[in-house]
Amino acid sequence: MRASFDINSSTGIYRVSLGEGLVQEVTASDAHRIFIVDRHLLPQVAFVSDPIIAVDASEANKSLERIAPIIEALKHHGATRETEIVAVGGGIIQDIATFVASIYMRGLRWHYCPTTLLGMVDSCIGGKSSINVGALKNLVGNFHPPASILIDLAFVHSLSPEQQTSGLMESVKICYARGAEAFADYLALRPTAPLQTDTAFAIIEQSLTTKKWFIEVDEFDQAERLLLNFGHTFGHAVESATHFAIPHGIAVGVGILMAYKYAEVASLLSPAGEERARRLVDHVQALLQPLRHTLAPLIRIDAEVLLKHFESDKKHSQSHYRVIVPVEDGELQRLSVPRSAIIQALICNAFALGAGIAVRGGI
Ligand SMILES: NC(=O)c1ccc[n+]([C@@H]2O[C@H](COP(=O)([O-])OP(=O)(O)OC[C@H]3O[C@@H](n4cnc5c(N)ncnc54)[C@H](O)[C@@H]3O)[C@@H](O)[C@H]2O)c1
Repeated sequence: MRASFDINSSTGIYRVSLGEGLVQEVTASDAHRIFIVDRHLLPQVAFVSDPIIAVDASEANKSLERIAPIIEALKHHGATRETEIVAVGGGIIQDIATFVASIYMRGLRWHYCPTTLLGMVDSCIGGKSSINVGALKNLVGNFHPPASILIDLAFVHSLSPEQQTSGLMESVKICYARGAEAFADYLALRPTAPLQTDTAFAIIEQSLTTKKWFIEVDEFDQAERLLLNFGHTFGHAVESATHFAIPHGIAVGVGILMAYKYAEVASLLSPAGEERARRLVDHVQALLQPLRHTLAPLIRIDAEVLLKHFESDKKHSQSHYRVIVPVEDGELQRLSVPRSAIIQALICNAFALGAGIAVRGGI
């Protein structure tokens, strides 16, 4: 099982390779390399003889405050402008490596081996970094695409079903955002955790080739790519209000259900759109069903508290909230809605109803 394709970006073309045993291949060149590795995965890179900077994959570590020690460690290991960084880990290591590689001596080449399904199906392409500042999640960041991406399927198998489901949520989001055909192709793969290797391969390939369209037509998040924030505006509120007890991808799944409920309470869907969006809701609920214990804290959170977290999302303007919801025939649209009491009541309603169908099922 092996696939590869190229991504066109403003800084050049980079290759995405998908298969088995790829992490070993990254050490084949004679470049001066320094690895940045999720500490938890050190045994899986035991063959590496280059210097390794081990980092715990915590939100606290992908913060502006913790970037300086990593830069000092690069210097300590003799990094020059010719040094290539190899990042091995999930979205947290990716965010750290993208940011550090973009600013160390004004920019180093870097390679990325994503190890979570979320990283493999979504975040590994697109070149974005998002760094926390204190308690403010993903407040700063930039674009610095890697020189290559090596997706080694061996990493899928050490992920828990919950971690795999987290990745599937981003995959659903991408495929639904692209349109009815991409979503039907995705569902035909029968995605569910735990994943067999061939299903994981097919889902990763389908998600990335679908996301490729978004990032090539709109690399810098001005129009089409913004649709990939579907589920995230509500989801970030869920994540931060639960103090990250609900992992990112799972919160995105809940956020998708809340966005659907917003469309419903604001009467934005036609009957045909309702039917199409219901297929999405059914699938997301089926994926969340085994995770009721993880979602339990949601029920205890007041919608007003969620609204406070929702309001701090960087996608809103001073006067308007930005929400991505299914409208009319079920296509996603990015709406700009005034920060009025009526809209706030609709959002709170969507929070409560979305949390209810996430935790208890039903519709
Ligand atoms: N820059 C982007 O484009 C982008 C996009 C989406 C999400 N993100 C960010 O990514 C972060 C979430 O990343 P994530 O969900 O990929 O995971 P993560 O990096 O937060 O890791 C989650 C957990 O999984 C463990 N882990 C990683 N790989 C494993 C493996 N193969 N087997 C067993 N355990 C493994 C880690 O040690 C950690 O405990 C968030 O901070 C989010 O904001 C960034």
